[in-house]
This record gives sequence, C-alpha cells and structure tokens, in this order.
Amino acid sequence: MAKIGELFKTDDWKTEKHVPVIECDDEVTANEVFEVRISVGKEVDHPNTTEHHIRWIDLCFIPEGAKVPFQVGHFEFTAHGESTDGPNKGPVYTHHQAVASLKVAKGGTLLAASYCNIHGLWESSRDIAAG
Ligand code: FE2
Repeated sequence: MAKIGELFKTDDWKTEKHVPVIECDDEVTANEVFEVRISVGKEVDHPNTTEHHIRWIDLCFIPEGAKVPFQVGHFEFTAHGESTDGPNKGPVYTHHQAVASLKVAKGGTLLAASYCNIHGLWESSRDIAAG
C-alpha cells in the first residue's frame, strides 16, 4: 500500500524544475516578522499551461526539537489559461510563486511541498536560525 509521505520526490532545485525553492535569510530575529519566498522553477522554468502546471505549494515550519510541523501557509495557483475557447486560450495564468510573512520564537526548519498536476509531489527544506 502506498503512503503519501513516500511519494514526495526531491532533488537539487538548481537542476530539477519541480523542487520548491525556499528563499529567506539564514538567520532571523526571534519574534519579528520576516518574509519567505517560495516558488517552483527558479533556475529551470516549469511550464504553466492548462495541461501542465503547478497547482499548489505548502509551507510548514518545525521548530528545533519539535515532533510535529506547523503549517505556515497553503498557496494555490488556480488559473492556467483555461477558457471556453479551449485550453491555453484564457487570459490569466497564476505564476507559481508566493511570499509568506511569519515570525518564529526559535530556529528550526522550513518545509515546502509542491504539486505538479502531472509530475506529482515534491519537497524541500531549509534550516533557519533565530537569535
Ligand atoms: Fe511538471
């Protein structure tokens, strides 16, 4: 029986277009709001068409020493050229990128998951220190 956690793939985001990219400072100030940019295809473009696109990116945070992650945000990308005139004839394409604003009480790891409608689930992580 398949388990969802085993279906996530990962790789180097600089060469694999599906891996979510987490951009933020390596060290932040505890309890002060900072920004985290999450995207797919920063180095290698991912298509954004009706047939092939990124549906969502999820961002979580697990503090040092914690047993469970906390969800920071879920970002859906819902327009991909759909139209009554046919696929890729629509006027709007949501780009697969978002900025989350958050604050943390201590350091930990940011966890990102993304979903491509035909290539499945991908993940990445990034440690942050909070002083
Ligand atoms: Fe894809």
